[in-house]
Amino acid sequence: MTATKQILSLNRFDASKATGFDATLTDRIARRQATFGASSVLFYEQPIEMVRAEGAFMFDASGRRYLDVYNNVPSIGHCHPRVVEAISRQAAVLNIHTRYLNQTVEAYAEKLLASFPSPLSNVVLTCTGSESNDLAMRIASTATNAKGFVVTKAAYHGNTAMVTEISPSSMRTRTPAPFVRTVPAPASDAGPDVASSFAAAIRTAIAELQEAGHGFAGLIVDTIFSSDGIYADPAGFLRDAADVVREAGGLFIADEVQPGFGRTGGGCGASRVTTSFPTS
Ligand SMILES: Cc1ncc(COP(=O)(O)O)c(C=O)c1O
Repeated sequence: MTATKQILSLNRFDASKATGFDATLTDRIARRQATFGASSVLFYEQPIEMVRAEGAFMFDASGRRYLDVYNNVPSIGHCHPRVVEAISRQAAVLNIHTRYLNQTVEAYAEKLLASFPSPLSNVVLTCTGSESNDLAMRIASTATNAKGFVVTKAAYHGNTAMVTEISPSSMRTRTPAPFVRTVPAPASDAGPDVASSFAAAIRTAIAELQEAGHGFAGLIVDTIFSSDGIYADPAGFLRDAADVVREAGGLFIADEVQPGFGRTGGGCGASRVTTSFPTS
């Protein structure tokens, strides 16, 4: 596995190469390392102290403005006034788990489901993408009585013990677990064959898992392939892959942490939660 495939290494700050920082930045970094530990990751050769954000922009301590194409998932921009107002209002009224009846939660679930394809008929709310994917893997293994998963070569699906096993891009020195097979991302240079070549690679990976006795639980893909390099076209090209998966009795799991909630633009009716399509 090459270093370029490790997500957290891509822009990692290396304290041993730090030179010429002013006293304030040196102090900030020392405070971070004293509390989070030296192995916690900061980004960039010169770490940036962010202080606020608005819409598509983030601002550092000196007031410098950055166009945000990298920070994670504020789908409709940073600090959207309606989101800020709704969070503040709810925090002042009620903040509870979901094992009480509550109209806000029920209404939200109904609204979300109305935007899903009809086979998806219920929701499970989670706090993180890692949790969603972990749960989707458990559902797939239970539904299929199998353990094998197929992912793309530079996939990242989160940081629980289980999803780390299917996240090659998190692994510095080892390969994914034996019950995992990787396929190349659906390269856009495959032209019109992108759908069929991706589906063929998945078919081969499924056969290998079955041959090795792991069985096949599912394919999990970040539907925009953000850690593999962003592959979004042509629209609908994942249908062949999903067909191959279902024919083999597995679940197609769409990890929509990155593209969810319409983050990729109009027409994307997806949600941040992981969605797993039933096999029949
Ligand atoms: C594609 C993808 N899946 C899963 C995750 C994990 O989400 P979380 O950090 O909310 O656990 C991420 C986080 O960046 C992600 O990009």
